[in-house]
Amino acid sequence: MPRLVHGRGARRALACYLSAGGLRKKPRVPPLSDVQILIEDDHYGGRVAVAKAAGGGGAGLVDGGARAGGAAGAPEARPQTVTPPAAWRAPELTVVIPTLNERESVPVLAARLDEVLKGVAWEAIFVDDDSADATIDVIRGLSEASPHIRGIRRVHRRGLAGASLEGMLASSAQFVAVMDGDLQHDEQCLTDMLRILRAGKADVVVGSRYLDGPGDSGLSRTRHFGSRLATRLAKSILHSELSDPMSGFFMIRREAVEKVAPALSHQGFKILLDILASSPTPLRVSEVPYEFRERLHGESKLDAAVVVEYLGLIVAKLSRDLISIRFLMFGTVGASGIVVNLAVLALLLDRNIAFSAAQTAAMLTAMTSNYTLNNLLTYRDRRRRGWRFFTGLVMFAVLCSVGVVAGVGVSTFIYVGEPWWIAGLAGAAVGTLWNYITNTMITWRIH
Ligand code: GDD
Ligand code: MN
Repeated sequence: MPRLVHGRGARRALACYLSAGGLRKKPRVPPLSDVQILIEDDHYGGRVAVAKAAGGGGAGLVDGGARAGGAAGAPEARPQTVTPPAAWRAPELTVVIPTLNERESVPVLAARLDEVLKGVAWEAIFVDDDSADATIDVIRGLSEASPHIRGIRRVHRRGLAGASLEGMLASSAQFVAVMDGDLQHDEQCLTDMLRILRAGKADVVVGSRYLDGPGDSGLSRTRHFGSRLATRLAKSILHSELSDPMSGFFMIRREAVEKVAPALSHQGFKILLDILASSPTPLRVSEVPYEFRERLHGESKLDAAVVVEYLGLIVAKLSRDLISIRFLMFGTVGASGIVVNLAVLALLLDRNIAFSAAQTAAMLTAMTSNYTLNNLLTYRDRRRRGWRFFTGLVMFAVLCSVGVVAGVGVSTFIYVGEPWWIAGLAGAAVGTLWNYITNTMITWRIH
């Protein structure tokens, strides 16, 4: 029975395991089903223990004892390597394609990639956020027919940026591209992009709609205007002359992504912009022009929330990540609550309702509106639906009430020696922080 036991840092141990096998002059290669691997990795001490192949007279555990800095165990314990099938080449290029309800387009795109990338060792990773139209089933069907196609199904998660990032991190290829799954991006560009990266002339090649004048006929007038405005904003944070920093179509050296991955936001649409703005070392960028096509099937997922997220990303980057997109949105929603509160209060007082009753109703309305907006915008990737919407409202109410108590406590304490408005501001800040942190951890925790 093949058995793979993951210990701590199993990935690192497996790498050691494979490289140790690589040291053998003539590796003995048992069929994979005969290999029994037991990896136990003491992260700090560097101890790696590996069991022998089951075919070789039973598995024995061997302590490599390589504390001083090596992975190799005793010679007889050197494990076997895994050899690929004869005609197989590891992909040099991974094309990551995020999808949400794109079942009609996916097979067409797969066929076009197959055509364009002839002669290249490539794979496509479709990253589907549990589309209601069961796009993933179509992807699985394609994978059964072609070794080039893989699919990742993500559940309880949403977001183009996060999906793209996960796809890129699932790759082991030297180069990764990201492109839309709705056929609006021109797959013909991929070969040019690859050529430029292979020549080492750039770290990233961006498909640009604006390099040869406006090339976004696939956008409506409003989208066109918005896109130009967003491009201006983006240029201001990147200090770059990139003609289309908003592009969702690019190819990059995977190594560059690996470096910047922990700093990237999972929210929003603008993965390229985020990579360029967050990279610890400036990336060399090159552009290739393409015509943004009309959408044939389905509809765009770019909505108001994505625009808000985008503005959040700009502020986050301007503040050097001190202010996160989520916190900014939470704060903005909180501010909108004050407006709701005052509006409802004014309305009820106008109808001669007693102040305490009017203010109670106003506060409850503001809290419910805050919760609903946060659920729609701030935590859209963790949105609570159905009955969970209502249990979330209760959690939000309880946590925010504690926030009020904490805020009042702090401001009363400060009020003793400071002007009233400093005390008031400090109380509001403490309350907001409390609300944000606890609601992120509890009401909208990742489950
Ligand atoms: N997995 C996943 N999760 N995929 C998503 C999500 C999501 O939450 N939202 C959108 N997608 C997928 C869509 O299915 C499509 O394949 C791709 O991401 C782009 O989404 P669209 O909704 O078609 O975006 P668009 O056409 O309005 O804008 C695109 O093109 C612009 C120009 O290059 C995006 O790529 C923009 O980032 C880009 O600026
Ligand atoms: Mn599109």
